[in-house]
Amino acid sequence: MKKYKSLSLLLFLFFMVTLFSKISVEARNNHIRNSKTRKHQKDKSGNGNTHFPSPAPAPLPHRGSNPNPSSSFDLFSFGAKGDGVSDDSKALLAAWKAACKFPGATIEIPSGFNFLIKPITLQGPCMPHLVLQIDGTLLAPPKVGSWPKSSLFQWINFKWVQNFTIQGTGTVDGQGSNWWTTSQILYTQKKSNNIPDLRPTALRFYSSYDVTVSNIKIINSPQCHLKFDSSKGVKVNNITISSPEDSLNTDGIHLQNTQDVEIQHSSIGCGDDCVSIQTGCSNVHVHHINCGPGHGISLGGLGKDKSVACVSNIIVENVSIQNTLSGVRIKTWQGGIGSVKNVSFTNVQVSDVKVPIIIDQFYCDKNFCKNQTGAVAITGVKYDQIVGTYSVQPIHLACSNDIPCTGIDLIDIQLKPSPRYRGFQQGLCLNSYGKSSAPLVPSSIDYCLRNSGGSVNRIERSHDNVC
Ligand SMILES: *[C@@H]1O[C@H](CO)[C@@H](O)[C@H](O)[C@H]1NC(C)=O
Ligand SMILES: *[C@@H]1O[C@H](CO)[C@@H](O)[C@H](O)[C@H]1NC(C)=O
Ligand SMILES: *[C@@H]1O[C@H](CO)[C@@H](O)[C@H](O)[C@H]1NC(C)=O
Ligand SMILES: *[C@@H]1O[C@H](CO)[C@@H](O)[C@H](O)[C@H]1NC(C)=O
Ligand SMILES: *[C@@H]1O[C@H](CO)[C@@H](O)[C@H](O)[C@H]1NC(C)=O
Repeated sequence: MKKYKSLSLLLFLFFMVTLFSKISVEARNNHIRNSKTRKHQKDKSGNGNTHFPSPAPAPLPHRGSNPNPSSSFDLFSFGAKGDGVSDDSKALLAAWKAACKFPGATIEIPSGFNFLIKPITLQGPCMPHLVLQIDGTLLAPPKVGSWPKSSLFQWINFKWVQNFTIQGTGTVDGQGSNWWTTSQILYTQKKSNNIPDLRPTALRFYSSYDVTVSNIKIINSPQCHLKFDSSKGVKVNNITISSPEDSLNTDGIHLQNTQDVEIQHSSIGCGDDCVSIQTGCSNVHVHHINCGPGHGISLGGLGKDKSVACVSNIIVENVSIQNTLSGVRIKTWQGGIGSVKNVSFTNVQVSDVKVPIIIDQFYCDKNFCKNQTGAVAITGVKYDQIVGTYSVQPIHLACSNDIPCTGIDLIDIQLKPSPRYRGFQQGLCLNSYGKSSAPLVPSSIDYCLRNSGGSVNRIERSHDNVC
């Protein structure tokens, strides 16, 4: 027993000595940084912050929104430089590891500074109610070549986190422009040089629960901006996502195998889908979203390479979509199995959207895809109050010959050609069964759908077992 006591005393002494030397190193660093940055930094709120008592004659430490100083973990306290050039990944990782152990801890990314972060995994499980407070800017490596080949899947990966929140007025900048310009080159070289056409997602959540992302900006990702994968209980609120219209495959928010999701009061403009809902998603509620430019709000592509796809209970309502390829869209590959069920698109304002309403069961990302038998069954899709202008075609429902779409409701659809209109005023409805009710503009929508027969339902039911 006595042996243990003296051992722990020794450890304690060692700890104190380490702590003290750490403080003095930090104080020195802080002092150096303060004198360097003071000249050209108006916002000094992030300077010299440390959760240890600091002997430096620095301004009062900024504790952020967290009233409990012991649970506030400032990036500068972990050796971050915040100059946008030095690699601050280690500091972020260290802050994460420290904060992870305290319930309700906050990791602070101070405003007025840029932190260059290499591809990184921030892993749980952590104590509940951990907050990542992003008030400054996180920058991804700008050069394609400086990304490790083994880390092209994502930039910042949150894995196994629970009761976790990202918030703040800061920016997550994927600096993706080099990826967009080289992606065409990579694509053409792919066949000869075997270069993978893999580009990183900016923020990815994997196998995580009860996650909230609010207020931040996510911009210029190499590929998808915010992805939730195999997760449950997601809230996205009041965020801004932005990348140029011509940035290839830069989805806004991408959901995959994820349930119980609410995405609200956000603005998304990018080079691909504003919101993309993939297989394994259910109970997804998207509302008060401003989308455009981009490809609109999409379910799928589902069922690629004869795979199983299951998507159900999706509500998209009170959204505004402008200057996009499609408005609300469901796309499936030929030959897939599974189903899309119980989807509603309500109160969707479109403006200068090429095709506001699309079901495409012949989805193909090349010029030509082989015809295949079978399809992901689509049943129970309500379109209610889809109003505004289109520039190519008001509605395009191309359902499978093998498994027609059933339970398609078209209620109060009012779509007029936009000033940039060049296309077809006739809608297309192929193998689509359901009912429509006025007002319907153009009036041709009224005789677009067919009344469903019993035989159709039987095929659809037998197909449903896999989900
Ligand atoms: C996580 O948060 C949710 C919602 O606030 C709550 O229902 C749940 O009990 C929390 N879980 C833990 C482990 O704290
Ligand atoms: C939404 O986010 C912005 C930018 O971070 C912030 O200024 C604003 O206060 C937030 N609004 C709400 C209601 O939280
Ligand atoms: C359809 O989805 C909504 C929203 O998720 C849900 O509330 C409703 O119960 C679902 N209806 C059926 C028949 O499953
Ligand atoms: C969407 O708008 C309708 C009509 O204004 C409203 O009744 C409904 O509550 C709104 N939905 C949400 C989730 O706010
Ligand atoms: C594939 O199917 C479509 C629709 O039924 C048909 O128009 C087309 O000719 C088919 N293509 C081939 C190559 O069989």
